[in-house]
This record gives sequence, C-alpha cells and structure tokens, in this order.
Amino acid sequence: MKHLLKLEDWTTEEIINTLNLADQLKYEQKHGIEHKILKGKTLGMIFEKSSTRTRVSFEVGMTQLGGYPLFLSSNDLQIGRGEPVEDTARVLSRFLDGIMIRTFEQSEVEALAEYGSIPIINGLTDYCHPCQVLADLMTIREFKGKLEGLKMCFIGDGNNMMNSLIVGALSTGMSISVACPEGYEPPQHILEFAEKYGADGKFELCRNPLDAAKNADVVYTDVWASMGQEEEKKIREKVFKDFQVNAELMSKTNEGCMVLHCLPAHRGEEITAEVLEAHADEIFEEAENRLHAQKAVLVKCMADENQKD
Ligand code: CP
Ligand code: NVA
Repeated sequence: MKHLLKLEDWTTEEIINTLNLADQLKYEQKHGIEHKILKGKTLGMIFEKSSTRTRVSFEVGMTQLGGYPLFLSSNDLQIGRGEPVEDTARVLSRFLDGIMIRTFEQSEVEALAEYGSIPIINGLTDYCHPCQVLADLMTIREFKGKLEGLKMCFIGDGNNMMNSLIVGALSTGMSISVACPEGYEPPQHILEFAEKYGADGKFELCRNPLDAAKNADVVYTDVWASMGQEEEKKIREKVFKDFQVNAELMSKTNEGCMVLHCLPAHRGEEITAEVLEAHADEIFEEAENRLHAQKAVLVKCMADENQKD
C-alpha cells in the first residue's frame, strides 16, 4: 500500500519519479491529452482546517484523472463529534479508494493509514506539508532546470513547511539553510534528519536571516502564525519581525534567485509586497503546480499497478 504520510517515508527515487510524472501530466493537460487513469475511483477529502489551494487542486486533479472527489468537512463527519479515527478509517476504507486529509496531529494521519486499508495522502498537518513541497521541487526544476547543487534558504518559523522543505531539499541533492528565532526551531526528529543527510555543510541553522540568505538560489518563506496558532499571533509578530523576505535580504542571494511561498501570504509580515510581486511568476506557477504534483501523487498511490508510471 502506497501512502504519502510524510516526505521522509519516500526515497529520493520515488520523489524524482513523481516529479517526472508530474511534468508529464502537466504537459498532457496543457496539450489536451486525456489521462483518465483513476476512472471509477473515489477520493475522500477530509478537511479539519481551511484550504483554498489544496481543496481545489485535489478536487480538480481527481476530476481530470477521471475519478470522483468527495469533500468531507470534519464539522459534518462524526469524527468532529468524537468518533475515533481508528473506526473512521475502517469504515471509509469500505467506501473509498483513497483519502486525502488535512488536520492538526500527524498521529491522526498515521492512524488512518494503520487502521484503514486504502492509500492515505497528507494534505497538511502541524508537522508537515509533503504535497506542497513536491510542487515546490517541481517548480524549482521548471525554472532552474535542476535541483542538485542548488541552495535553498527558508526564513521564519520551524513549522510544517520548514520541516518538509528540509526533507525535500536534502533528499534531492539541494542544500538548505534555515533562519528562525530561538525557540522556534524544527522538531528534534527533523534536526536529526538534517544532521544525517545534511553533512558537509548541506544544512545550516542560522539566527540571522541575512546569513541564511547568502548565496541562495531559492528563498522560501511562510506565515509567522500557522493555522491553529491564531492566539499566538500578537506574540509572534514581535518575535518574527526581523524574519522577513525583503530587498535587503534578496541582495545577499545569488543572481537570478527565485522566491517561493506556499501561500496564503501576509504582505508586510513574512514578505514585502515588492518582493512578492517581483516574483509573482514563480509563486503562482508554484501554486498551479500543486495540481500537477498532486495528480502524480494520486496516480502513484491510487492507480492500478500497471498504470503507475
Ligand atoms: N499552500 C496551501 O496548502 O494552501 P491552502 O491552505 O489554501 O490549501
Ligand atoms: N504553515 C502554514 C501553511 C499553510 C499552507 C499553516 O500551517 O497554516
């Protein structure tokens, strides 16, 4: 059974194969070539947090692949009233062919996979956002022609995005430097991953964003307060005020440096309006690539064996 619970579960080869398939599906879709690989299959999409990109791209992607996307808000499911995820997994496995879930705890996604008998795809947890990072890697390859040897830098919170980008970058031959305030580092498990796969200076944790940005080929940032951290917003505005992608920071990067943002963005906080607009081509292509990258994930996880490539 192929799941996408977190990116570190996938080998480099699986990640690269998925990016190659995403490129192919993008090409086919742009050229009107139909690819109804998931005809007759249903994807349940459970959302316990808001979403624009993830919901719409999975829904459209599933439709383009000939399958049926079923939106399930946790407010309407019994899971929202306390039915155990272990039972939900076993019930939904009897109706559906796959589940995409956006929730808080990573353990909920892992439990769905453990108790269910269909592929589970993580559409964001507090811990990680693997679908986003596959789209990000796809976008970098599209603009730069390669991943290997490039340097990414991430400015901001040690959150789901920083976690998955560290894994994604180091798994594909990129180096990555991150800048975060003290107390906002990624969790121990990710730092251990970085120590193991980021030897020879491929991983660096900085306190000064300008140090992290030095010689970067890709600058990435994300909101200071993630979904579920609304009550910390005021404190975080103070803690993160110097962790902004702005003109000064961009002046430290390599010529032709890209800027990516998973969106939604808060102009004037983690990124200035000026930098965002100067890199809008990259950032909105990145948003579009959610569709193509996730279609590749859906095929890898849900297609019949002879249709997976
Ligand atoms: N980047 C991202 O996952 O966007 P949504 O929250 O709109 O799905
Ligand atoms: N870190 C953000 C990412 C949103 C796509 C959040 O979890 O809210």
